[in-house]
Amino acid sequence: MNTEFDVVVIGAGPGGYIAAIRAAQLGFKVACIDEWKNAKGGPAPGGTCTNVGCIPSKALLQSSEHFDHALHHFADHGISTTGVAMDVTQMLARKDAVVQQNNDGILYLFKKNKVTFFHGRGALAASQNGLHTVEVSGAEAQSLAAKHVIIATGSNARPLAGTPFDEVNILSNDGALRIGAVPKRLALIGSGVIGLEMGSVWRRLGAQVTILEGLPTFLGAVDQQIAKEAKKAFDKQGLYIELGVQVGEIKSGKKGVSIAYTNAKGEAQTLDADKLIVSIGRVPNTTGLNSQAVGLALDERGAIVVDADCKTNVPGIWAVGDVVRGPMLAHKAEEEGVAVAERIAGQHGHVNFNTIPWVIYTSPEIAWVGRTEQQLKADGVAYKAGTFPFLANGRARALGDTTGMVKFLADATTDEILGVHMVGPQVSELIAEAVVAMEFKASAEDIARICHAHPSLSEATKEAALAVDKRTLNF
Ligand code: FAD
Ligand code: NAI
Repeated sequence: MNTEFDVVVIGAGPGGYIAAIRAAQLGFKVACIDEWKNAKGGPAPGGTCTNVGCIPSKALLQSSEHFDHALHHFADHGISTTGVAMDVTQMLARKDAVVQQNNDGILYLFKKNKVTFFHGRGALAASQNGLHTVEVSGAEAQSLAAKHVIIATGSNARPLAGTPFDEVNILSNDGALRIGAVPKRLALIGSGVIGLEMGSVWRRLGAQVTILEGLPTFLGAVDQQIAKEAKKAFDKQGLYIELGVQVGEIKSGKKGVSIAYTNAKGEAQTLDADKLIVSIGRVPNTTGLNSQAVGLALDERGAIVVDADCKTNVPGIWAVGDVVRGPMLAHKAEEEGVAVAERIAGQHGHVNFNTIPWVIYTSPEIAWVGRTEQQLKADGVAYKAGTFPFLANGRARALGDTTGMVKFLADATTDEILGVHMVGPQVSELIAEAVVAMEFKASAEDIARICHAHPSLSEATKEAALAVDKRTLNF
């Protein structure tokens, strides 16, 4: 006999565990299956985000930033330090503890919301009596039946063709978060989000970091004025980024890694490094899901095909997060999880793809929402732009961090905000105001007329909105 649930969720990353909680809140009997194991073999719900993504990377970014401040910025404040040293083992232990707190938090939330959790792999099987069947393997092996299945199986790091990850010399995001000692020379392939965040961590700790990027443009998806400003800051820090390269053969041995590549001028080069992080994007994960048992359609990238509502081609089977189209972001996965649970309940779940914020947690941070200047030009939209530099913001001066700017793009006729782009201190927090503004279809003038606390970094947001109408007050 199959154990029957209303909703079975496969995967407990941000897409899956949030979908399970929301479905339970809506009164459904819910099961969530996840196979991730912690170091002791126990359950570690939270997916890529919690275990080898968002959370541990931010823990290391924080530790390395403290170290960088102690070495290079404390003296400005009159704080003298001697013998500042980084204990990498302690840094990693702290990161692991932060991860564990998040794993435990999710298990607690499952209990609180009466979600039944199964630690094991979930695989689809032929439906029986009009219900979908999910086979759980592992210690808790059994068959589950449900009217609705939500697939949230996430993504995996994409390896370079012919160069598998060994997690010793050639690292994915997983190994990149476990490097046990600061490498003298660290190479990364791909100057996207992971390349910049992980490159920043190890550069701050003293590694000589080189990032090889295939495209000729730095952060092509980012507003180019913002990307240029960020690149200037990274150059100054000594984060060496080489654009327009073509990576060739990679040799790995006892002494490290040797990467043959052709530079933008077409010259043959070799980069030797102690470790190599490959961060060239991620691929949707349907391994072991047995999608063919129900005839689930996948696209050419291996992503599960879904419509705008996250419905797959099989009635009653839904999919959310990294395993489907759209940006591979935890908050996007969460929004889809909530929306699907609400749709199952007959409600009108809603995800606005135009207002999903992006943040790159480097120093300076980079954050944006909406369209870039280059997209507006390509779309033929008449727009006005306004920028305000943190150099002219009192709080930024007091913080000692004046790099960067806030930029508003507004419709030339209606003044509706079309995009907000930021590079600078704590812009990961400032971007929320822009998201709210765009959700409410605010004009730049709306933001310009709102009272912002002084002194705060958020005044730069207000001033950039004023700049759209060429009436900044402090610049
Ligand atoms: P995942 O988090 O990948 O979770 C999928 C889960 O399903 C996993 O636990 C997996 O074990 C389980 N699973 C898969 N198949 C099965 C099966 N058959 N049976 C049982 N369980 C299964 N995003 C941000 O928004 N902000 C960030 O700062 C950020 N930082 C990142 C840093 C790094 C280094 C990386 C790699 C990613 C980062 N991301 C970040 C992206 C973010 O981690 C993903 O977008 C997010 O985790 C996707 O959530 P998901 O639920 O779709 O999948
Ligand atoms: P990415 O898509 O951000 O960047 C990959 C980079 O590698 C691109 O610049 C691409 O041009 C380059 N590239 C691809 N193939 C190459 C090759 N053969 N040689 C040289 N360069 C090559 O992917 P990344 O950094 O792996 O991250 C994956 C995803 O994880 C991100 O897109 C994002 O969705 C998510 N993520 C989000 C974070 C955040 O929100 N702060 C942090 C880290 C990851």
